Amino acid sequence: MSTDSLDDLLKEERIFPPSSDFQQKANFKDASIYEKALSDPESYWSDWAKKLDWFEPWKEVLKWNPPHAEWFVGGKINACYNCVDRHAANPDRKNKKAIIFEGEQGEVRTLTYEELLKEVSRFANVLKNLGVGKGDRIAIYMPMVPEVMIACLASARIGAVHNVVFGGFSAESLADRIQDSSAKVLITGDYGWRRGKKILLKKAADESLDTCPTIENVIVLGREGKSSEDCQMKEGRDHWWHDLIQDVNDVCAPEPMDAEDMLFVLYTSGTTGKPKGIVHTTGGYLTGVYATTQWVFDLKEDDIFWCTADIGWVTGHSYVTYGPLANGATVLIYEGSPDWPEKSRFWEMVEKHKVSIFYTAPTAIRAFMKWGTEWIDKTDLSSLRLLGSVGEPINPEAWMWYHKNIGKENCPIVDTWWQTETGAIMITPLPGVVTTKPGSATKAFPGISATVLNEQGEEITSGGGYVAINKPWPSMLRTILNDDERFKEQYWSKWDGIYFPGDGVKRDEDGDFWFLGRVDDVMNISGHRLGTAEVESALVDHQKVAESAVVSKPHEIKGEGIVAFVTLKEGQEASDALKDELKQHVVKKIGAIARPEEILFSVDLPKTRSGKIMRRLLKDIALGKALGDTTTLADPNVVAELKEKYEGKEG
Ligand code: WT7
Repeated sequence: MSTDSLDDLLKEERIFPPSSDFQQKANFKDASIYEKALSDPESYWSDWAKKLDWFEPWKEVLKWNPPHAEWFVGGKINACYNCVDRHAANPDRKNKKAIIFEGEQGEVRTLTYEELLKEVSRFANVLKNLGVGKGDRIAIYMPMVPEVMIACLASARIGAVHNVVFGGFSAESLADRIQDSSAKVLITGDYGWRRGKKILLKKAADESLDTCPTIENVIVLGREGKSSEDCQMKEGRDHWWHDLIQDVNDVCAPEPMDAEDMLFVLYTSGTTGKPKGIVHTTGGYLTGVYATTQWVFDLKEDDIFWCTADIGWVTGHSYVTYGPLANGATVLIYEGSPDWPEKSRFWEMVEKHKVSIFYTAPTAIRAFMKWGTEWIDKTDLSSLRLLGSVGEPINPEAWMWYHKNIGKENCPIVDTWWQTETGAIMITPLPGVVTTKPGSATKAFPGISATVLNEQGEEITSGGGYVAINKPWPSMLRTILNDDERFKEQYWSKWDGIYFPGDGVKRDEDGDFWFLGRVDDVMNISGHRLGTAEVESALVDHQKVAESAVVSKPHEIKGEGIVAFVTLKEGQEASDALKDELKQHVVKKIGAIARPEEILFSVDLPKTRSGKIMRRLLKDIALGKALGDTTTLADPNVVAELKEKYEGKEG
């Protein structure tokens, strides 16, 4: 973690207590809940779980055999039923909009809860007709359209397990995730829109399918509701969504699932080249996202909730789909880019759809800052009443800019820290209770027990350390798919029975948390997690590359940008053209988010005598810093040469 950023944060003294107006109307304002919840987390969480509809009650709240937890043991529940049926059956909600969709081309479609129930039930019957049942895995690789949510909910309805792969990932990344999860069915689309261009998803998916023998059927959504020439359909395997849906019934009973049955698997990057399939189960996950959506966002019946995340990330699972829908909210979803056709797109959408809660990532906020306020000034943002931030630390300047220009100094900002693994928000202000500070995620959500520890597991009362979660919580990951050993090693081996998230943090004198970024070899590029090892293995996969080491360095918009040091094989010539080729190769292997900002060729990489690459030194070089300790280095000249080269930017 960087000490510069720590010093900057220490200077931050502005505070923003909840306004009396907001506080008066807030869903929750009793600050004593923090202590109450922690004194008896099990009864606190079971009070939340009771607000969901269960087919059968649980027998035991928590079974904790560290690091394995079971929540609401023996309870039977269906996530789709809780997100759809119970609202469709409620006369006050059935005609309420569940989803408002805007496509990049400007078309708008809405689905009420009653309509959503029909669509989900029809699609659930489609899946059943293809032989999908309880426990089967479904891969989803789609644009951000209502059908992607329908597909997830239909999967949950019949007890299948969805594995959503972000549409920006490459064919190879898709293939890895399909193979690891042994998916039987792939749901994709002919295309989606991105900056006025068609992104051909089925075409990319076709490249992966050759190496995915478990896939028996492919369902293709025609973006225009009809077949398109953009797709090659394989007879017997590939089917159009609109064809399959035609003859099915719109009634399908939701499958009673065990609270601990798997709801979804979602892959995320770790410290090795292989992404981890994070496993979430049904009852606990739903309880966590239900509770946090209601309190963190102060959700009210007439809110229009816009979380800008794609469903390919956990934020899209928890705060576009399951959290808001379990609460019977109206969500807005948007398919395209924030600067298309103009940089005012988001603000025009806020005005048009009267968005009241807006939840986005710091990388987007920094881009808006750069574009300037002229795009905002011409729109009416008076419908907004609460703002959120997620995905990476938000720098105080971006926080203040967001507060002033989007919130008009009138909307609380909730900076929410959590992870794919935690399922739901963990550290966050409650907007009616907590005084916010620009750059601080403030306090653990009631019922979450978080602290700061050092390497030895001793509590840190002042200064920096590692964030640690020392009690189990309902929406926690249950394991890594097919790799329980890695689950234990990665998250539970640092301290006994305590969860290690991998983030550096500082607590101030009020006990508030200030996040400082990852402490492992995981980067955060535009709020998306990527392992250095993943990018390295994509680079060494190129035939001309012998070795590579990847580090990140601060980037104005993306938060972090990738710098790759590359050693070529004997006889290979370094050139600018080869740099471009290597960047392209990484995009092909992983996806556009992994494209390195800079590539530096080097005859050798700095290594310890035992042959370990000294990434810290490379990071210093990338940051243009004075070199750290090089005494353990096998050949100190390597570093000096590299540094000279980097500073001269030849290579
Ligand atoms: C990592 C998790 C949480 C959904 C999106 C990312 C970083 C996330 C914050 C925040 C500082 C944050 C952490 C975390 N992170 N939110 N509010 N402040 N850092 O999910 O891909 O699983 O990444 O994102 O480093 O470990 P993810």
